[in-house]
Amino acid sequence: MILPFAESFRIKMVEPIHKSTREDREKWIKEARYNLFNLKSEQVFVDLLTDSGTGAMSDRQWSEMMLGDESYAGASSYYKLKNAIRQIVGFEYFLPTHQGRAAENVLFSVLVKSGDIVPGNSHFDTTKGHIEFRHAHAVDCTIDEAFDTTAYHPFKGNVDLNKLEDVLKENGEKVPFIIVTITNNTAGGQPVDMVNLKQVKALAEKYGKPVIFDSARFAENAYFIKKRNPDYADKTIKEIVLEMFSYADAMTMSSKKDAIVNMGGFIAMRDKNLFQQASVYNIMFEGFVTYGGMSGRDMNALAAGLDEGTEFSTLETRVEQVAYLGKRLVEYGVPVQEPFGGHAIFVDATRFFPHIPKEQYLAQTLTVETYLEGGVRGVEIGTILADRDPITHLDRFPKLELMRLAIPRRTYTNNHIEYVAATLANVFERRHQIKTGFKIVYEAPILRHFTVELERI
Ligand code: F0G
Repeated sequence: MILPFAESFRIKMVEPIHKSTREDREKWIKEARYNLFNLKSEQVFVDLLTDSGTGAMSDRQWSEMMLGDESYAGASSYYKLKNAIRQIVGFEYFLPTHQGRAAENVLFSVLVKSGDIVPGNSHFDTTKGHIEFRHAHAVDCTIDEAFDTTAYHPFKGNVDLNKLEDVLKENGEKVPFIIVTITNNTAGGQPVDMVNLKQVKALAEKYGKPVIFDSARFAENAYFIKKRNPDYADKTIKEIVLEMFSYADAMTMSSKKDAIVNMGGFIAMRDKNLFQQASVYNIMFEGFVTYGGMSGRDMNALAAGLDEGTEFSTLETRVEQVAYLGKRLVEYGVPVQEPFGGHAIFVDATRFFPHIPKEQYLAQTLTVETYLEGGVRGVEIGTILADRDPITHLDRFPKLELMRLAIPRRTYTNNHIEYVAATLANVFERRHQIKTGFKIVYEAPILRHFTVELERI
């Protein structure tokens, strides 16, 4: 018999979580104005809001915490992290930041000005926010296959080279850099192939533009390259990661994902001049260049996390658990983005609720119903997240209207996964009884999804 898949860790410490009744949840979600960010964590049973900062650190990471050097300047923890970054991604210069969006803020303060155009593959919302906040535009050049949740493509995160070249040809002088998000979160945690990364770099060189990787889930990307591109089947994850980053000039990193820490981020680059310019903003916004918003202990845990997070066994455990949820949902007939993403399963709300108009926020309706059914918290990746068009102020309807179920690393067991799948199956079974969605009663001008307030229609 072929031995089944099993996790490459055992559990040393546990944290209780609590079930609730449907009545409780009806009351809580109403009090939260139907915005799941407003729920208290104790009102949630299985929390799949995000895989960001929600993972479980290892015994090795916790022991590194005790060795943290909290010196303001030149801490040994800084050098430990600097070494790990040089070894794992191959960049000489780096700046710590308190999280990924802070890395964007610092780097874009140097590189992005009003009127610029930043092409890439589905910019993450904070990335887009930092571009639009500077009165510049983000242009999505992801391949078309990414927007059809039923179409199979092994690398749905890929950049469409024709779309990218069109932007460079027409508006080249306005493009400060190209940004490639690995994995492509917004399109469903979808990977970018090594071949594509190489081609983007070649095109960028032709037009004299730098390439930046938004690297939050770079290790999951490397895992998919190993699994899906036969040329890399025999390479280690660390070898694949080094090659991936050889096609970038700089990176922004949210360490809260693949580096398995609860807080932290960084910018890394090859160019000393860029490092010096970014250092000015880092000191202003984040902290001195050798800590940048991170404690020494957190930099130590991050250095260890970068190493562990790029081990095959860690990634296999992680990505295969996500796929397990995907398979269970497919068995129940629930429409999901396929192939499954690295960090999350994305449920297609348009296919789930074909009978509700898109103006009523389908993916949000699905997240509310999923919470009511089983106390499971997912997140809307749809019209609310897409914000209004900065010029017309009308809702922007994205090509995909999704509910994301993001799985924290090393946190839940497959029994939790079974529970989540059954919750979705129940909502799917009664989907025709859900006839209407929501309307917005309050929203912020940018990144509205965090604080939006809604009412049932
Ligand atoms: N880039 C990507 C691809 C991300 O997914 C995130 C965060 C960021 C940048 C910003 O990093 O949160 O450390 O400031 N994504 C989280 C999520 C919030 O739930 O997907 P941050």
